[in-house]
Amino acid sequence: MNQYEIDHLATVRENAPESIVLLASDGSFPLAGPGELALYGAGARRTIKGGTGSGDVNSRHVVTIEEGLERAGFTLTTKAWLDAYDEVARANHADFVADIKARAKEAGVPALIYGMGLADPAPAFDIPLDGGGEAAVYVLARDSGEGNDRRPEAGDVGLTDSEIRDIRALQDKFDKFLLVLNVGGVVDLTPVKDVRNILIVSQLGAAIGDSFADVLLGRAQPSGKLSTTWAAWEDYPAVGDFGDPDDTHYREGVYVGYRYFDSTATAPLFPFGFGLGYTSFELSAPAVAVSGSEVSATTTVTNTGGHAGKEVVQVYVSVPAGRLDQPYQALAGFCKTDELAPGAAQEVVVSFDLADLASYDEARAATVLEAGDYVVRVGTSSRDTVPAAVVHLAEAAVVRELHDALGDPGFTDWRPPSPAVVEIPDDVERLSVEPAALRRADRCEPVDLADAQAFVKGLSDEELAYIVLGQYAETADKQSIIGQASEALVGAAGQTTTRFEGLPSLVMPDGPAGLRISPEVGVDADGKFPLGAALGGLFAELMDEESLKAFGLDSDQEPRVPESTFEQWATAIPIGTAIAQSWNPALAEAYGDLVGAEMDHFGAHLWLAPAFNLHRSILCGRNFEYLSEDPLLAGRVAAGITRGVQGHPGRGVTVKHFAFNNQETNRLNSNSHVSKRAARDLYLRSFEIVVREARPHAIMTSYNLVNGVHTSESAELLESILRQEWGFEGLVMTDWVVHGMTRTDMKNPRATASATIKAGNELFMPGCEEDRQDILAALRGGAGAAVRLSRSELEKQAARVVRMARALAGQ
Ligand code: BGC
Repeated sequence: MNQYEIDHLATVRENAPESIVLLASDGSFPLAGPGELALYGAGARRTIKGGTGSGDVNSRHVVTIEEGLERAGFTLTTKAWLDAYDEVARANHADFVADIKARAKEAGVPALIYGMGLADPAPAFDIPLDGGGEAAVYVLARDSGEGNDRRPEAGDVGLTDSEIRDIRALQDKFDKFLLVLNVGGVVDLTPVKDVRNILIVSQLGAAIGDSFADVLLGRAQPSGKLSTTWAAWEDYPAVGDFGDPDDTHYREGVYVGYRYFDSTATAPLFPFGFGLGYTSFELSAPAVAVSGSEVSATTTVTNTGGHAGKEVVQVYVSVPAGRLDQPYQALAGFCKTDELAPGAAQEVVVSFDLADLASYDEARAATVLEAGDYVVRVGTSSRDTVPAAVVHLAEAAVVRELHDALGDPGFTDWRPPSPAVVEIPDDVERLSVEPAALRRADRCEPVDLADAQAFVKGLSDEELAYIVLGQYAETADKQSIIGQASEALVGAAGQTTTRFEGLPSLVMPDGPAGLRISPEVGVDADGKFPLGAALGGLFAELMDEESLKAFGLDSDQEPRVPESTFEQWATAIPIGTAIAQSWNPALAEAYGDLVGAEMDHFGAHLWLAPAFNLHRSILCGRNFEYLSEDPLLAGRVAAGITRGVQGHPGRGVTVKHFAFNNQETNRLNSNSHVSKRAARDLYLRSFEIVVREARPHAIMTSYNLVNGVHTSESAELLESILRQEWGFEGLVMTDWVVHGMTRTDMKNPRATASATIKAGNELFMPGCEEDRQDILAALRGGAGAAVRLSRSELEKQAARVVRMARALAGQ
């Protein structure tokens, strides 16, 4: 193992416990020392380090939970059960692959596209639970991935009868029983909600087994908090729809996650922000102060229990409803303590700008705060707060005048028919804020492109078109090969053009759970190439003749024989949701720094991460990559990751997928119908926070449409909102439009290179000759061209690419 791998694994192992959420505890854990242990469940040996798809990172080794426990000195009494389960899982997987192939055939879709992102459903089994020991641990596992959504059924969101039976039996048999959830998203815990000890270990990357063993033995403390509400499946809102291949209506408006549960007084199983530790904490009565528009709440947190731990102080505000309806409360700020020893105390100050709580008023195309009483609540989860102050605003204030953008969803947002009433407490401090202090007038100057423009002026139309596309081989008339579009860094998802001397090329590996690159590389006379399948796992199993044909790949090609080989192992870090569960932007920054160091090592410029579309529905197949249902938590954690990566000169992040990409079903052609208010207050808000706070070097548009226009083709989104309102100065690129992955039999078309370039999305990825011809046709303006593109428009977009290539790769 290389030194960087050793160091980075140690960092991940040490930090991961901050992402582990203890949901239920009767004090049986941690264990005093390693002894005999009964270990069961799908995730015990087949531990999932992170979900599947473009975010799956190749680490040299993943420490499973079984291995981590044995390394820590436990004697596992259930090896026979684990062996027997392996057999069940193998047969289940074979059936699953055969089933996908059959269904794909029936649907007339290549198996790879049909099955992308599907995960083995949890199988039925009945293996005797005869292991003994001091305690029992049952590791329930769920996987999901890019390209498909989860299902609200047993074996996915629901537990299977086999799982429920065994979990209940173990809880009865053992005094000390721990249910461990090795999951990337929510599972409906209703049938096992009485289990005395439940821990979300989540999916923590390469060192997951070691981190879990550390927590089980109390050598590290679980201090994670939920970044998304965990409820019974039936209790999630069924107001808007989800998963339609053509049109998805976000009718629930701003009532997503806890905003829905709190406003409708629906009890979740475990609320947003909730998480126990091995210890307990007390918060002193908070003192609230206002200065200008800044509100700060100060409280002293004391560790009142018998173990060390960290607590997260959370501040929520109930914004008064007026002309605009308002959710019961919204997260306004948060702060995690240091690790506090038993008896130790720390003063914590949580500050926020009241202006950041403004809502978008569609009637006047501005964000506003209405007159009234703003109730400030302080606590340790969304359902465990005390009112600490009332801040009065005498007159309505306009915060920002904005563009009236993004079109019409075709409906009016739902409102709760009888919303939970916000009581205005009269026994707390009353403060006030002046309306004038809330006014914001951002001045965003356009980026100076003069030098880059001088370079592009000397190029022909034919040449210019290359610059706004990713690098592709001369032979790639229809598409670049997925997962192999970079020549410089094998396994990186793509890079900008290499065709011009003196113009550096930006190399882009995927994320977000680390750097996704090929672990083993061969070199022959033609250059570098990945050894083994470029895309492993299910991708490789589904790559049948049909799929090869769809991707323009040649099945008869002679395998390349390497003259020499080398390795490129990266470190798999925790999935996005786990990082968000730390509620610790500084820790997120440490993970970003780790990735930045590996980018330095491998010569990558733009990391295709972090990904932080909101958890609108627990069914989204990529929620594990994403961070939270709340835009503030998501935005601040993503800003931390961004600062960590970009602390390395010449390295940048690519925040994605901008925006309204909250489902995987038909993601390339699906149309998200969203109101302007929900768009601004929720879905764009997290991106805005990152852009304003951490200035990411790049942003990736999503595949989908919003209110009938592809996000990548929306000048309103990219020029008016992103650049003019938020002052974004980086590079905008598309998500990977690979022609083989594109369905042409859908209601909505896919995005085109010419229209994205015209809209201010200057880099169409990964690029191929057909895309270049599309741009040239738009320039010529002949019949058949979807849009008309002028030479100066193309020059401007090419100059943006040139500027960023020089700024990053030129260093
Ligand atoms: C995914 C992106 C990813 C890109 C490049 C796409 O299919 O949606 O998240 O960055 O591929 O691999």
